[in-house]
Amino acid sequence: MGAVLRNPKLWIFAICLLPLARLIALGGSGGLGANPIEFITRSTGTWTLVGLILTLSVTPLRRLSGYANLIRYRRMLGLFSFFYACLHFVTYIWLDQFFDLAAIARDIVKRPFITVGFSAFVLLIPLASTSTHAMMRRLGRRWQHLHRLIYLVALLAVVHYLWLVKKDLTSPLIYGAVVVILLALRLPWGVRLMQALRGWGAAVR
Ligand code: HEM
Repeated sequence: MGAVLRNPKLWIFAICLLPLARLIALGGSGGLGANPIEFITRSTGTWTLVGLILTLSVTPLRRLSGYANLIRYRRMLGLFSFFYACLHFVTYIWLDQFFDLAAIARDIVKRPFITVGFSAFVLLIPLASTSTHAMMRRLGRRWQHLHRLIYLVALLAVVHYLWLVKKDLTSPLIYGAVVVILLALRLPWGVRLMQALRGWGAAVR
């Protein structure tokens, strides 16, 4: 039992379930506000984006800390992001649109923020379905190329958020800046910066 509790994967799994647990608790106590559907849509959308950001943080953090094992948690974070994206999409097609396929198709074509969100969601599907070790081995180098799609997904997610916000752009702009920084850190100078910071940290210690 002690060994199970010391497993970081278990803790990360439990923490990733907290936003869902919160929604269920708020739903049970009537705490979802005057517009529960909007509350659930916004909450699941936010946690999808946070999940994408956490997934994108793993590689720079690994370079900065030298802790190679961090890579073991990346898949779980990515899959949790996909899980919240599914909840977000299901909330939209079920609670918002009542499975009215014609209205959903119209929305996807006519409302740019829905078009972009839908594109991000569709692009997440091949990533989630090839996330297993078996698929990694089978696809070889092509796996890495395919999984670079997450960069596009994160950018589309930010555009989706920017496009749907009507007044105060602060929040989507902050998310956008974080995504851009995480992508920039993958460029050669970003990698060098992480390595230099790591070397500097080791020298100070
Ligand atoms: C990777 C995929 C997606 C991400 C990361 C994402 C993210 C977000 C975020 C961050 C918000 C705003 C939350 C807030 O206001 O605090 C949001 C809202 C919303 N999203 Fe998405 N989304 C995605 C896909 C989709 C899809 C596929 C649809 C529907 C086809 C959709 C429909 C909506 C709607 C209707 C809202 C609420 C708009 C409003 O309240 O005015 N999203 N999403």
